[in-house]
Amino acid sequence: MPTTPHSIDEFLQFLRFASISADSKFAPQMTDCAAWLQRKLSSIGLHAEVSPTQGQPVVLARNETKPGRPTVLIYGHYDVQPVDPLNLWQNDPFDPTIRDGVVNARGSSDNKGQIFAHILGVEAALKQGELPVNLIFLIEGEEEIGSPSLAPFLEAHKQELACDVVVISDSPMIAPGTPTLCYGLRGIQAIEITLRGPDKDLHSGMFGGAVLNPLTALARLLTTLHNPDYTVAIEGFYDQVRPLQPWESDAWKKLPYQEKEILAITGVPELDGEWAHTPLERLWARPTAEINGMWGGYQGEGSKTVIPSLAHAKLTFRLVPDQQPEEILALVEKHLRAHLPDSVKMEIEVGHGGAAYLADPHDKWGLAAQAALKVAFAGREPALIREGGSIPIVADFKRILGVDTLLLGLCLSNCNAHSPNETFPLSHLDVGSALNQELLRELAKA
Ligand code: BES
Ligand code: ZN
Repeated sequence: MPTTPHSIDEFLQFLRFASISADSKFAPQMTDCAAWLQRKLSSIGLHAEVSPTQGQPVVLARNETKPGRPTVLIYGHYDVQPVDPLNLWQNDPFDPTIRDGVVNARGSSDNKGQIFAHILGVEAALKQGELPVNLIFLIEGEEEIGSPSLAPFLEAHKQELACDVVVISDSPMIAPGTPTLCYGLRGIQAIEITLRGPDKDLHSGMFGGAVLNPLTALARLLTTLHNPDYTVAIEGFYDQVRPLQPWESDAWKKLPYQEKEILAITGVPELDGEWAHTPLERLWARPTAEINGMWGGYQGEGSKTVIPSLAHAKLTFRLVPDQQPEEILALVEKHLRAHLPDSVKMEIEVGHGGAAYLADPHDKWGLAAQAALKVAFAGREPALIREGGSIPIVADFKRILGVDTLLLGLCLSNCNAHSPNETFPLSHLDVGSALNQELLRELAKA
């Protein structure tokens, strides 16, 4: 059933909420967005509620539970990333604008468009009768900050959330029109470090040369994270890395997303990283150490000759099976302390963490998902991929609820997720809705 102008209007309403979880200024928009979702899910005939957590509320919706049917939990998130730098956007990020069938708005791909496609699928199925499964929608508001409240919520509501399989669309398709089943995600560990030098900013002429500049110390410290060949130089970092299976590296070489496509999307003159691995292996099956931000000193117009008192950096480590976030954190801290000069002090603030995820794309759920993808995409064979991004709650679904997750991406790699001008093709609402309906039928049979 093709998307109606009415459902596109509703999608645009959903996109107008500035539901930025990272910034507490936007707390009212978070609440409003959750309430909007609850109304939408009720209006299609589900029992929907907004449930408080220790952080942002989650939206839960379900049909009538009947014995003898599998329970499918569809997870998504209504929070979005911050929008800066604002001047690079073609429109206000929360004033969704459609150009050539593609909507430009923060959150359009990550994750509002993809979760809305599932809602439309369930809406269409319910118009025709009963769903073939017991369904739970769980849509949270803290994914983009590492889901700090959701694992405790799962623990506390284990019984109500018991299910057979989880479905998530929050990742890219490997190429436009290619049905994609993602069976692995990288994990993540975030930290923020602060180096403290003099107890106040100093005149760099009066003290420069005798007092170590914390920004210089920070720059030197951060360069110790990598070897010249871009492998991570932290001792023990690779000890638990599970090697890629031969079928995976063979299959990945045939995918329609390789060096050329990555160059075109990123605009870099050439790729870099561990040369012993192909770009897709580096993105999907190798761990990394990234500097996401570093700052300190004078940032205003003109120059100001100071030795700053403080220097800061935000780091994340992308992890692969079987690296454990807590173990990596300990290795990182040991490395940083060992390379720190005595003339500055370091504070480490631990951020969010989550383990990597790897499933078998050929188990009964994986095969059901492949069958549904094939039907929804006019008979095309699905691509089996992993992804480099992280959805930390996926490992918690396994740990707490004991279930695997099917990752059926509906956005595109060039959708500008987390970047200015995030986009989502409106046609993906149709294909996502069709996929949802096929999938529920296939999962009911599995
Ligand atoms: N949709 C992404 C996850 C994703 C991105 C999966 C690319 C596969 C490919 C999700 O919204 C996200 O951005 N996750 C964060 C998690 C972090 C904040 C804990 C990420 O990967 O940076
Ligand atoms: Zn995201």
